[in-house]
Order: sequence, then structure tokens, then C-alpha cells
Amino acid sequence: MLINNKHYRTIWPDPENQEIIQIIDQRHLPHRFIIEDLAEVNDFALAISEMHVRGAGLIGATAGFAMFRASLAASTKNFDSDIQKYADQIRSTRPTAKNLSWAIDRQLTAMAGAESINDKIKTSFATACAIADEDASFCKKIGQHGLELIKKISESKNGKPVNILTHCNAGWLAFVDYGSATAPVYAAHHAGVKVHVWVDETRPWLQGAKLTTWELKEEGVAHTLISDNTGGHLMQHGKVDLVIVGTDRTTFTGDVANKIGTYLKALAAFDNKIPFYVALPSSTFDWQIEDGLTIPIEQRSAEEVLKISGITDDNRLETVQISPDHTNAANYGFDVTPARLISGLITERGVVAPNRDAILDMFPEKKGVNSGQET
Ligand code: MRU
Repeated sequence: MLINNKHYRTIWPDPENQEIIQIIDQRHLPHRFIIEDLAEVNDFALAISEMHVRGAGLIGATAGFAMFRASLAASTKNFDSDIQKYADQIRSTRPTAKNLSWAIDRQLTAMAGAESINDKIKTSFATACAIADEDASFCKKIGQHGLELIKKISESKNGKPVNILTHCNAGWLAFVDYGSATAPVYAAHHAGVKVHVWVDETRPWLQGAKLTTWELKEEGVAHTLISDNTGGHLMQHGKVDLVIVGTDRTTFTGDVANKIGTYLKALAAFDNKIPFYVALPSSTFDWQIEDGLTIPIEQRSAEEVLKISGITDDNRLETVQISPDHTNAANYGFDVTPARLISGLITERGVVAPNRDAILDMFPEKKGVNSGQET
């Protein structure tokens, strides 16, 4: 991803000391670009739960590096039980994104296969780097598959800009690079296909208003920020050609958990016969859960709904209260869009229909996993 024309990933080992992992602290974007060092396992746990890093793929990559840090912190005497405790701590940081437990389990399996503690540490570093590299390469492939969808729409519009609506931030900031929902947009933009993105602001955390707009600006992609309730109106008036969103967890039957508000966009798209696609790397699939409505939905602090933060004219970051004192507020982080409202899933292997047979045909190695034999 490009920031001031310099290439960054969202997470990387400090080149001077690979035991320190560096991240972009997303709480300060778009107004401040701050790199944070993560040194202790607690730093990683806090970075995930307090959303210094966020988004399914990046949560997974951060968990991968957290487990590497755990391997350094575990005692030689009780290595395995210490690692398990750290794994439980990281696992409890955020409940909805599947990539979190996927990365932890991948690390536990990799470390279990190594003999000495030294080998376990080396293996966990290599695995963390592999998780990050794979995330970036899968997102790049998602971009290429999604590009074909955008090209087709562009041809039918005789080259006029394709209007794509997206919700939240499933961009490079939510992954290690490229993004899931935004990868096809960037691929189209780089291929010279004209695109314009409608960006839902995404209350209450404002990932759309703060992060997606910033990414698109850095990449030079035309975009317009809209309040969360605008999408239906735009769809009714023919101003949306395609919806692409990301997902934090998708069942093997095609139900999609994504940022709160996604379901309402899917309903509006369905009513207006607008294609609604979900982009995801396979690490976001849940091969055990059949019914999307049983996916655990994170509830966060009411403060995030009651207060809002931004920058003042004299460049100070401020948080202000919106509602009367003592207002009750609920903060559900995600909702579930049933497969029947979804046109297709854009994965690293290609675009697949959101149903059990098609998904398992595309990922045949997962057949049987849903019977509980494997995680
Ligand atoms: O709460 P967040 O910011 O971690 O939520 C993740 C998201 O940004 C979205 O739900 C996104 O669309 C899917 S994550 C690739």
C-alpha cells in the first residue's frame, strides 16, 4: 500500500530487532500517522482489543506475531502450558473475526511439530511471517478475480465509471496489504478501468469515514463519503452498480458476518437487483459453523456510540459527547447477511456462489471438516 508514495505493510518485524513488531496505530488515522512498537504479549492483546489494529486479516496477522512473541516469553520449564495461556489470552481479545483463532491454531500446530524450544521459536517466527505474506498474496489474487467483475460492468456502461458501494474498511488497513473489498477496486484503478467508490461512514467507529477515505485518497481513487443511511437511496436512483464488502467470518454455507449495517445494505441491494459481493481470503471461512446467526457478535463499549472524535481547526484531536448524560447505548459490532442476499464470494481461488456445495467444491480439502473432525 502507498502512503505518501512510500510502500508500507500494516505490520512488520522491526528490521533492527525482529523481536519487536511494528504496526500502524489506526486509532489516530487519518489525522496522525503513528507507528507503534509491540514488545510484550500484553501489547499485542491490547493492540487487538483496543483496535490499534483491526480488520479480519490484520487481526489474524497480529495474532500470528503475538504467538511468536509468546514463544519468546514462555518459560523453558513450562513452555507448552505458557504458550497455551498466551494463546487463550490472545484468543479472548475479539470474538467475531475468524482469522484470530485461525492464526493462533496455525501457530499452535506449527510449534507442536518442532522439537526443541529453539526450533519452536524459529518455527513460530517463520509461521507468523508466512501468515502475513499469505494474507497479502491472497488479497492480491482477490483483486484480480474481482477486477473481472468490475471490467464486465464497465463494458456494459461503455467505460463510464463503475460506482461501487462499500461498507466499513476492508481495505489494506484491514489486512497486511491490498485489502479484500478494496483489492478489486485498486486492481481496476491500476488497470485503467474507471471506478468511483461510495464510502459508508460506518458508525460508530467510523472506519469508512476515517480509514477507507484515507486509503482511497492515497491510492488516487475517486470516492464520495456518505452517511450510513444513504445507500438505499442511491441504489433506488441507479447510482450504485455493485456492492463489495469484506467479512470477519463467513460460514461454509455462505452466511456472512461483517460490520454492523452490512445486512441492511444487502437487503437494499437485493431489492434493487444490484450485485452484492463479499470478498474474503479463505482464512476467514468458519468450517464448523453452519448457521450464520450463531456466529459470536462482539459488543463493544457504549462510549464508542455516545462519543465522537475528530480534529479541530487548530489541529487538535478531540473527543466529544453526542448524547445527554447517562443515555443508554448499545454497540453491536457486526451483523449477519444471509447467503440468499449475496451474489458471490470473491476468494483467492476465484468467485464462488454462497452455498455449501460450491464453497466445498472450491475448497475440497475442507470437506468433512464441518463434521467437527478438524478445526
Ligand atoms: O471492527 P473492525 O474494524 O475490526 O471490523 C472489521 C471491518 O473493518 C469490517 O467488518 C470489514 O468489512 C471486514 S474485515 C476485512
